[in-house]
Amino acid sequence: MKIGIIGGGQLAQMMIQAGASLGVSFALLALESDESATAICSEVHWVRGFGREGLASFVAACDLVTFDHELVDPAVIDSIPGAEAKVFPSARTLRLSANKARQREMLLATGIPSPEFLIAVDSEELRDAVRRIGYPAVAKAAHGGYDGRGVFYLGDPSDLDELLARLPGTFELIVEPRLELQAELAVLVARSRSGELSTYPVLRTVQLDSVCNEVWAPSGLDGQLEATALDYGRRIAEAVESVGILAIEMFVVNGEVLINELAPRPHNSGHLTIEACQSSQFENHLRGVMDLPLGPTSLSVPAAAMVNVLGPTEVVDLQAGLATLLSVPGARPHLYHKSYRRGRKLGHVTALGASVDDALAVAREGAAAALSTPAVREAL
Ligand SMILES: Nc1ncnc2c1ncn2[C@@H]1O[C@H](COP(=O)(O)OP(=O)(O)OP(=O)(O)O)[C@@H](O)[C@H]1O
Ligand SMILES: [Mg+2]
Repeated sequence: MKIGIIGGGQLAQMMIQAGASLGVSFALLALESDESATAICSEVHWVRGFGREGLASFVAACDLVTFDHELVDPAVIDSIPGAEAKVFPSARTLRLSANKARQREMLLATGIPSPEFLIAVDSEELRDAVRRIGYPAVAKAAHGGYDGRGVFYLGDPSDLDELLARLPGTFELIVEPRLELQAELAVLVARSRSGELSTYPVLRTVQLDSVCNEVWAPSGLDGQLEATALDYGRRIAEAVESVGILAIEMFVVNGEVLINELAPRPHNSGHLTIEACQSSQFENHLRGVMDLPLGPTSLSVPAAAMVNVLGPTEVVDLQAGLATLLSVPGARPHLYHKSYRRGRKLGHVTALGASVDDALAVAREGAAAALSTPAVREAL
């Protein structure tokens, strides 16, 4: 069984790590040589972009194909003969879940609450949308944004002018009120091609400058709120007919759960499932794509926490930092074979514990240790 992964980032790396024990081999469709998974995969198909030709020959070379990111046009997938039997999640799922505007329209149609929003595709519409939503607002690129790139906070008209000056000729944005968030959650749903469905425990996430920084479970939130979040997750996975992992980011505002966005793939919020659950999100993603029985998703420990290793302002030596990180008892390292860039996700650290506080303290110490050695200037 050879599974092709479109994209070669850290999600692909961790899929390969999980798939190896299922006897799966992998091929990658990748753009750049410093993408994480290219360091550990023997078959890499290099392309300049995710156009029809490269994608068609990649699909032909693999038994099944899945995704590390959602930068592929679903219409291109539809145009490849035989893709509907090999590429999962499907082009339909991608259409509904890889674009923030389509996600929100789908949620309106299914009656699942999300923040009030308007869609803008030109400057006139953007000005009008911000006028109707009011300040403070948030404008977000409907497609292609990640890790906060594509999220613009609009506090007053000068922010709007600045955004208008930076926008490309064609764009699609959603505009919504900047909300007072009581908490952020993620629900991960695993679903197989034949429709078996399972949810992971609700994950609590903390974003720094719009980038995921910390995650823990159990979430510590009210049981009723968790039940609502899980119910929304299941209903959304059924509505988009996801295959593999569907990640659903949620806000808690005024005690209510609102859906922020979806990602039709494994997700940063679920990295702790590698150590904390019997079957990780990566393993269940592959099981779902291969249409194998899903593995158990409940926590096998009282608590777990994950802290991202994000590129700091000063250049650091991750190799030297690894020794310090490994000296923190209980800190489990995950490094992504990535070169330093400020703000870039270079890795993450997971810790298990008797309580979230215990686990979080160790994961934080581990992540800080990974970044504790400044790079020697001559080595750069
Ligand atoms: N309407 C809002 N009000 C307040 N904060 C918001 C709002 N929308 C987004 N944010 C903050 O910005 C973060 C990133 O937003 P969002 O998830 O929409 O963007 P993204 O760049 O696609 O994220 P990701 O890295 O998950 O792909 C959210 O997790 C939240 O912390
Ligand atoms: Mg997000």
